[in-house]
Amino acid sequence: MSNVLDFRISASYGATEVLHEVASSIAPGEIVSLVGLSGSGKSTLALALLRLLRYRGGEVTGTINLEGTELTTHSESAMRAIRGRRIGYVPQSPGLSLNPRLRVKTLLEETWRAHASGSTSHQALLESVQLPSDAAFLRKRAGELSTGQGQRLLIALALMHSPALLLADEPTSALDAITQAAVLELFSKINRERGTSILFISHDLMSVAGISHRVDILHEGRLVESGSPAAVFQTPQQPFTRQLVAAMPRLALRD
Ligand SMILES: Nc1ncnc2c1ncn2[C@@H]1O[C@H](COP(=O)(O)OP(=O)(O)O)[C@@H](O)[C@H]1O
Ligand SMILES: [Mg+2]
Repeated sequence: MSNVLDFRISASYGATEVLHEVASSIAPGEIVSLVGLSGSGKSTLALALLRLLRYRGGEVTGTINLEGTELTTHSESAMRAIRGRRIGYVPQSPGLSLNPRLRVKTLLEETWRAHASGSTSHQALLESVQLPSDAAFLRKRAGELSTGQGQRLLIALALMHSPALLLADEPTSALDAITQAAVLELFSKINRERGTSILFISHDLMSVAGISHRVDILHEGRLVESGSPAAVFQTPQQPFTRQLVAAMPRLALRD
């Protein structure tokens, strides 16, 4: 079966190239984590794949193939039919992405309309991300939700049109450790139950290791290593990956 996503891209802001021929692919049903330090180019890559980088002043060259279709030559209107429908984007923080005054029901309805088609009921969708689906919850404003609930709502909005690929840019970095683990498990459950492919972007190798089929390590805009979490942890090949693994906190318990 062919890949859901195949890409090889470079990206720059003005004269400064920040992604240097980064190439990867995601098979159907695969969770690939892209791990790199802050500033390594993770969000640039996410926006480049969505063809949104120009809105941040960046430019992309290369190829992006989604479900057999080349995206780099698509018009903006063709891309609008892809974003939200074939690629569901989960941003970093509900506080930055959801209008705090809008009610849950309104947010669901707006996302529904924005992409014109869909097959999942709001109730089933909320339940699939383990949120309440009763009228009282639907009446809540985004600003009244906990960060964990807001993040689950962002995931629900991204899933509304059953995308082939979920693209999540540090979706747990605003959450406390326990909520973070629960949201990671939610991504894993979505992948298992729906078969959705996931590109999970994170600065934290440790947190993504458990849910990933493969880990891609991004360092200063270059993909320096790619492998199963076990291989990356146990036999890191590149100096940067060795540093990353060595820097991970270890449990030092007294006996
Ligand atoms: N709009 C922009 N204009 C110029 N440089 C930018 C812009 N956005 C990001 N950068 C630079 O590109 C590099 C990668 O940034 P980014 O993709 O946001 O990294 P990450 O998401 O991994 O933290 C950084 O050096 C950052 O300073
Ligand atoms: Mg980022």
